[in-house]
Order: sequence, then structure tokens, then C-alpha cells
Amino acid sequence: MSSIINVDSYLDEILLTEEELQTRIAELGARISVDYKGRNLLLLCVLKGGVLFLTDLMRHITVPHEIDFMAVSSYGRGVRETTGVVRIVKDLDEPIESKHILIVEDIIDSGVTLSYLLQLLMPRNPASLKICTLLNKWQKRTVEIPVDYVGFDIEDKFVFGYGLDLDERYRNLSYIGVAKVPAE
Ligand code: IMP
Ligand code: MG
Repeated sequence: MSSIINVDSYLDEILLTEEELQTRIAELGARISVDYKGRNLLLLCVLKGGVLFLTDLMRHITVPHEIDFMAVSSYGRGVRETTGVVRIVKDLDEPIESKHILIVEDIIDSGVTLSYLLQLLMPRNPASLKICTLLNKWQKRTVEIPVDYVGFDIEDKFVFGYGLDLDERYRNLSYIGVAKVPAE
């Protein structure tokens, strides 16, 4: 999609405004702060899409915590479809044994990526392992996974902005938009 010139030509509509996102993220941060009081929390951000969510969320978390990053890739075929094959691109820097791990994700679609991550992390014996996702595309779920914190349940549309990319671009938008359906 080298023909991308400006966002307007790819934006169908704004799904979540900056204000809606920030209000909800503050609520999530407050809940997490209560739930993890007195625990050694590690926020595990899934790169790259979860980065903006992590940095805003952690500013609303009042309990001491660490952060770490993992990069996995499940999209190898095209921009908007999954291959169903998950690959670790970057592992965690430190062991997670006896830590309370909260995975911070941008979006759960089929659930394949997170179910793979859970299977990989469980044998490392964390004290607990939970999931916080900003967006939940529940209609597309093919693998059941427990999601503990959800920002927004959204319909099955391709979205971008606020960490989520459209062909690696537009992650910097402060809102989330629905992408126009490409012409066949
Ligand atoms: P899953 O394995 O099908 O749950 O896919 C999860 C990953 O697919 C997310 O972490 C995103 O990187 C990507 N993804 C799924 N839906 C969208 C979308 O609407 N926009 C951008 N990326 C998406
Ligand atoms: Mg992601």
C-alpha cells in the first residue's frame, strides 16, 4: 500500500475518540491498581500495537510495577488477514517466576496470538497470568481465552490508530478509526 498519502483516504469513520480512549484507560488503570495492591506486578506489553496503550495505562496504575516487552507476529500473508501461525520475534528480558503478569494487548481478534502466548508463559510459573486488552473483537474468536480487562468490545471491522497499524503506518493517531474496505 505504498499509495497511502494521507489518513483521510483510508479512514471510513472514527470509532473511538481520544477522549473516549483516555477516559476508559483511566478507569482500567484504577481497577488494576485496586486488584494488584500489594503484589509484584509486571506489565507485559505485546509489541508493537500495545505500546501506546501501555504508556497511557501505566500512568494510571498507582501500584509499583515493572514493564517488559514481547514481540510476536501472526500476520504473514496480507495486511488484514492472519496466517494463524504465531512466531516469537522478541522474548522477555527477565524470568517471570513468582511475578504477577498482566499482558497488555492492543486487540484480540481470533485469539490465536494470545492463546499461543499463554501456553508459552504458563510453564514459566508466574504467580498469576491475566490479560488486559484495549479492544476485543469478540465475533471473530476461534480460540477461547480468558480476558480479564477489556477496554471496548468492538465489531468485526479493521481498525487502526492508537498503536494499531495500517500497513505499519498511522500507529501515532490519538484516536481509533475504521479502515475503508479496500476495492477488490
Ligand atoms: P489474533 O491472533 O487473531 O487475536 O490477532 C491479534 C493481532 O492481530 C493483534 O495483536 C493485532 O496485531 C492484529 N489485528 C487484529 N485485528 C486488527 C485490526 O483491526 N487492526 C490492526 N491490527 C489487528
Ligand atoms: Mg497486538
